[in-house]
Amino acid sequence: MKILVTGGTGYIGSHTVVELQRDGFEVVIIDNLSNSRAEIADQIAAVTGVRPAFEVFDLTDREKTAAFFKKHNDLAGVIHFAASKAVGESVEQPLMYYTNNLCSLLNVLEGMKNNEITNFVFSSSCTVYGQPDVLPVSEEAPIKPAESPYGNTKQISEEIIRDTVSVTELKAIALRYFNPIGAHDSAEIGELPQGVPNNLVPYITQTALGIRDYLRVWGNDYDTHDGTAIRDYIHVVDLAKAHVVAVQRMIESKMKSDFEIFNLGTGTGYSVLDVIRAFEKATGIKLNYKIMDRRPGDIEKVWADPAFSNKELGWKAERGLDEMMASAWKWEQAYREKFGE
Ligand code: UD1
Repeated sequence: MKILVTGGTGYIGSHTVVELQRDGFEVVIIDNLSNSRAEIADQIAAVTGVRPAFEVFDLTDREKTAAFFKKHNDLAGVIHFAASKAVGESVEQPLMYYTNNLCSLLNVLEGMKNNEITNFVFSSSCTVYGQPDVLPVSEEAPIKPAESPYGNTKQISEEIIRDTVSVTELKAIALRYFNPIGAHDSAEIGELPQGVPNNLVPYITQTALGIRDYLRVWGNDYDTHDGTAIRDYIHVVDLAKAHVVAVQRMIESKMKSDFEIFNLGTGTGYSVLDVIRAFEKATGIKLNYKIMDRRPGDIEKVWADPAFSNKELGWKAERGLDEMMASAWKWEQAYREKFGE
């Protein structure tokens, strides 16, 4: 059975392609390489022994997207990752974010509808909850006004999907990710941030390697055990496996409604300092860091209630923070050797 993975050479996409192939799915990737590299298709092949089919084009191109779906009208499902995801950049370039994230979604849904492809998995985010009033946060928690255009694209996308499901044959699962980190055990694939990383873990690994002088810890005056902000970090391989489960759930007609939403997190929150300590413990490296003012737009604390996903999907995040740190570090070193930067 053939699955389309948009954004399949990206961070979460590439790990998901590996898990799909391992479960016997045939994969075709579409990626515009805006935040990834063509070589990732070879890296995937190095892990699984199979090079996924791979087309490079932009899903905001309506004609190309329509032609793709016409050619691949035998798809068993679509996992849609392709989107821009830098919060700060989205504040500076809202039109770019709305165009990229929403037009590509619309073109994909239109292509599916015109070719009677019904199974759709969407890459959503815990950002839709904002700062929740109740922790851990369950899927029932209210959606808060978005803090950024990026976050707003995830909220609007979920609404577009809900409206489409209600009047077409489309079935959809939105997966709301908490903070994916780490890399594949093989160190063949991992996170490849372009330029200066925004996210915590690539910044940590680049600092450990001496590419950055020190990590800036954004704020230590939050109402948490050590004053730094808390997130639910989840190993990217655990996250990838949940996508395979979601696809199988749709194919096997196990859905309880035509639009389902699941939190993908571990249920445990760690502070920025907890993460630094875990990195130091896993690698034996002392990390340089400085406490700075809070980063605008950051929330204080969030972690998932994964009970519904655990029960309904029969899926559970298994890897702990130490393993996340060790794999991220192994990948950072391997990637510098591989890509020479
Ligand atoms: C953000 C978004 C999330 C999005 C993700 C993808 C929100 C609330 N969250 O996650 O939806 O999917 O980016 O990019 O919009 N930190 C430092 N120093 C650094 C970097 C980060 O202290 O150099 C801290 C942050 O303040 C935060 C934690 O580390 O407390 C995690 O930050 P980050 O990895 O950027 O992810 P989020 O902001 O949680």
